[in-house]
Amino acid sequence: MTRAAPALRRRARSFAFETVPAHWFGGDPWRTRFFDAFSSLLPIGERLFIDSMRRTAAELGDPQLDALVAAFSYQEGVHGREHRRYNDRLRAQGYDLDGWDRSQKATVGRIGKLADPRIPLAITVAFEHVTASMGQAILAHDLLADVDPEMKAFWEWHSAEEIEHKGAAFEVYTRAGGGPDLRRVVMAWCLFILGIRMGRRFAHMLRRDRALLDRAAWRHGARFLLGEKGLLRLMAADFRAFFARDFHPWARDTYGLVASWEAASPPRAPTAPIGN
Ligand SMILES: [Fe+2]
Ligand SMILES: [Fe+2]
Repeated sequence: MTRAAPALRRRARSFAFETVPAHWFGGDPWRTRFFDAFSSLLPIGERLFIDSMRRTAAELGDPQLDALVAAFSYQEGVHGREHRRYNDRLRAQGYDLDGWDRSQKATVGRIGKLADPRIPLAITVAFEHVTASMGQAILAHDLLADVDPEMKAFWEWHSAEEIEHKGAAFEVYTRAGGGPDLRRVVMAWCLFILGIRMGRRFAHMLRRDRALLDRAAWRHGARFLLGEKGLLRLMAADFRAFFARDFHPWARDTYGLVASWEAASPPRAPTAPIGN
């Protein structure tokens, strides 16, 4: 690794989703549903990340690692709570969140029962890389400029904390004896599963919005993902880096993004205790 990461801060933020319009991303269903579909997967996913980290930390019994995992768990615990509140909006819009959750929980349950703790940790490393890379693109290029202010505050807060703790899972994975081969195979599997699950939810929501066959919506969507400042295009270099044998999340120093976000973003009060 080339440098140490900053200490993880405990920020008890909470957001007023009640006043957010249905199509909160510039009035555009495509970009809105892209993020809505992603959000629908996060609470159960983030629970798996916390559990995989705690399981290994408990086995290793290193107080420094325990402190890192506790701070990581706090951040992901607040993310999970706020995404559940966010997802209640989708439930109120008539989406079958409970059915989606049941299916995702069945997969996550099987992963949690695997005898080798490095596999759930490798999954955590992979998704943590996705969220940190996405956060870096969002904050570095102001990709949420025309988003409803509350949603902008929400996704930028989550982005900043994903950057801040981007090396935590990698650290635990390495300490558990995880190497580059398993990490890369698992990332390929994770991207496949994410594409399938997120794609199905996204298509379902767009169909309900009557935008699934709307060519203009897809043109805007393609520009958002693949255009000059497209989200996936901005993330491409991070993915190439991940597949190198000597990859380490700390090698790309993006912590300045967290500092500038923090300076521009006033703290918010919590609305409920964190249940993890
Ligand atoms: Fe998170
Ligand atoms: Fe995370």
